[in-house]
This record gives sequence, C-alpha cells and structure tokens, in this order.
Amino acid sequence: MNATISDTEYSQFQKFIYEQVGITLSGDKKTLIVSRLGKRLRMLELSTYQEYLDYVRGDAGQEELTNLLDLISTNKTDFFREPVHFDFLREKILPTLADVRHIRIWSSASSSGEEPYSIAMTLHDSVLNPSHWSFKVLASDISTRVLAKAAAGVYEDERIAGLDPELVRRHFLRGKGEKAHFVKVKPQIANVVRFTRINLMDDTFPIREPLNVVFCRNVMIYFDRDTQSRLVRKFFRYLKPGGYLFIGHSESLQWVEHDFTYIAPTIYQKM
Ligand SMILES: C[S@@+](CC[C@H](N)C(=O)[O-])C[C@H]1O[C@@H](n2cnc3c(N)ncnc32)[C@H](O)[C@@H]1O
Repeated sequence: MNATISDTEYSQFQKFIYEQVGITLSGDKKTLIVSRLGKRLRMLELSTYQEYLDYVRGDAGQEELTNLLDLISTNKTDFFREPVHFDFLREKILPTLADVRHIRIWSSASSSGEEPYSIAMTLHDSVLNPSHWSFKVLASDISTRVLAKAAAGVYEDERIAGLDPELVRRHFLRGKGEKAHFVKVKPQIANVVRFTRINLMDDTFPIREPLNVVFCRNVMIYFDRDTQSRLVRKFFRYLKPGGYLFIGHSESLQWVEHDFTYIAPTIYQKM
C-alpha cells in the first residue's frame, strides 16, 4: 500500500530540502515527489513519510540525501555543453596567463564529470606545451553517486558521438571486447581533475588557492534568489581579481545582488 503524505509532512520536506541543498520544492511538485519518494520508502521498508524524514535526518542521512536529491534534481550534462565558455577560456583567458602558465578552475556542480574533463581537454589543447603549464581543475558535486561515475572517467561511446574524432583519439581510450562500447578518459586529462563532494550551501569551501575561473552551470536554476546571492558572493571571495564566473545559458545574475562585472551573457568577471 502507498503511504500518503500530510501537508505538515510535505512542508517539513520542503524546509529540510531547502536548508540542506538550497532547492525550493514548489507545492505543485507534490504529486511528482510523492510518487518518486514512495519508491524510496518501499525500498527502505518504511511505512510513513515521517519515518523517512527521521531517517534522512539521522546518521544515514548524508548518503540518503544523495538519493533524495537525485529524485528532485537532474544530473543532465554533456561534454562541451554550452561551448561558448570553452571558447572564452581558450581565446580570452589562457592567452593572458601565458607568462605565469598557471591556472586553477573549479567546476562546482560537475555532475558525472563531462564538464571538468571538457575544461581539462580545452586547457591541454589550447597551449603550445601543456607539460610546461600547471593546470588544476577541482570538480565537485553534492551527489556521491555522480562523483563516483565522474572519477571512474568511463562513458558509453554514444556520449562522445558528436565530438571531433581527433579530440576523441587524443583524449579517450577505447574499450576492448565486451567493453568495446565504452571509452575512458586518458590519464593526461584525468590527472588534471580532482573530484570531491562539496555542498554549495556550505558557508565556506575547502579551497585554498584563489581561482581563475568558477563554472557554476545549470544548478543555480534550482535555487531561490537569496540562495543565489549568497552563493555568488561566496564565489567572488574564492576568485582572484580578474577571475571569471560562468553560469548556465538559462541562468542570469540580473536579479541577484553581486559585485561581478557583466562581460557577456553568462560570463561575469571579478574586476
Ligand atoms: C544539471 S547538473 C549540471 C552539470 C553541469 N554543470 C552542466 O552544466 O552540464 C546539476 C548538478 O548540480 C548538483 N547539485 C544540486 N544541488 C547541489 C548543491 N547544493 N551543491 C552541489 N551540487 C549540487 C546535482 O547533483 C547535479 O549533478
């Protein structure tokens, strides 16, 4: 039998999710959430939403939070999604760093890794002598499930179908035998990227060295204006003067309080 959710339980869920991950669940999502959550309840052999709330708030909570989050947000991503940012990195940012040959980038909602690996490939392919540069890409997400996939660096070959065959040859290894439909990111790229779990709601982030670029794409769309403002102010602190913030194509900082300078749609600079 399916458990039913009371209005009080649903508002407790809304409050809990907002506090934990910054996502605002609207009232009209109730039916959708309840049908998806019902499956988690059955799997965990819990009979009420209150029991589930107690469970996710308890010791097992952080891990279950990943499952819960997967039910309410999407991990959709692609290699070289929204290519304007990779072009900007190659054409506008890297040439200004040719003297120092040092760049630090944070992919702050990295999902299954396509974004940070695309950044590392862009860095590698845009300079004359990559081994003379210090490249580091920090990649983080709240979901340990997607981070595990990202760190493995293995993808079904349809995920790279649209990419330039030369780039694929340079940066991916093809599987053999029963793995023939899979590719793996080569070590020269994988070694540039470090994956870790970071919740963007945290007050501070474990980042010591000031950053040249923050990618925060297609996640702010889930956050309300106050949460977006707080987050953008935190990014500002972790960037070097002259550093950039890239956001998703359907996102804007127009209604958000911030100190960045608008450069182009979805591109902002800390002057
Ligand atoms: C749609 S994906 C975006 C992937 C990539 N940035 C892109 O644009 O292709 C959104 C990601 O944000 C992550 N996410 C949601 N809330 C988060 C939070 N509070 N902290 C960190 N990551 C979060 C999700 O787990 C998901 O993997």
